[in-house]
Amino acid sequence: MIKDRTILFCLLLTMVGAVLFVVSYALGGDRLYEGLSLALAAAGLCGAFVGWAFWILPAEQVVDERSFVYAPSGRSAQDDTNASGRSAQDDRHIDAAGRAADAGTASITRNTLLTRMLYAALGFFGIAMVVPLRSLGPALGDSAWHTKWRKGMRLQREDGSFVRASDLNVNSVVTVFPEGDLGDAQAQTVLIRVPSLLSPTAEGFVAYSKVCTHAGCPVALYRAAAKQLMCPCHQSVFDVLDNGRVVSGPADHALPRLPIEVGADGYLRATGDFPSPVGPGFWERSS
Ligand code: FES
Repeated sequence: MIKDRTILFCLLLTMVGAVLFVVSYALGGDRLYEGLSLALAAAGLCGAFVGWAFWILPAEQVVDERSFVYAPSGRSAQDDTNASGRSAQDDRHIDAAGRAADAGTASITRNTLLTRMLYAALGFFGIAMVVPLRSLGPALGDSAWHTKWRKGMRLQREDGSFVRASDLNVNSVVTVFPEGDLGDAQAQTVLIRVPSLLSPTAEGFVAYSKVCTHAGCPVALYRAAAKQLMCPCHQSVFDVLDNGRVVSGPADHALPRLPIEVGADGYLRATGDFPSPVGPGFWERSS
């Protein structure tokens, strides 16, 4: 009985440790208390497993010896077998094994409470393991496929001002964000003005995602002479006049281009979101 109580105590420790861990995590995640409570839960579970292995599981070993069946002259070995084709010694071994199995089964069924407590402790411990997954960040949602750019949004500079078509000279470059979402990392966009003869759309304005399609660095350098954007991290180069095509470097797909227009009021506006996900990603496309 003392053995059962010891195992029960260990399982209770596991549950208490798991609850303390979850509470500590919910209250702000003090690492000291989280570590101690998790150690308590783990130690309780280990103790319970060890006790279970030594005290609950049947330890009896049954050896099934194969023996030579002696057949005296005049009698065949078949004469010493019963109707089932087994010898009397085989039957004794089978009986012994059956008794051992019955004893083990009885031991297990006798400990229904322990079994339930074990399941409960495992459940508590499992919850304690799952709860910290919240720290991995917000749910991905559809942010992997879309940014905050929407049709009609003005292009806003980092200082909060909105970009007018008349603000930028040819070869000017400016980083812009969707109206009202300054600093949004996914939506950051580099706006460039090239000679309108080279890009007749939106009076020579072209806008590309600033998130490099290789590893996500900001594509911050513009080579005005070559009309190329370059990522400083690993030197991927993108062609501004050819839909962000990769010219060189490790990036394997083009920079997404933001559709823009010059509104009737002279402000540059998006006409929609990027046509494809920005940055690197698991959706790797063949384009
Ligand atoms: S992150 Fe841009 S080239 Fe590697």
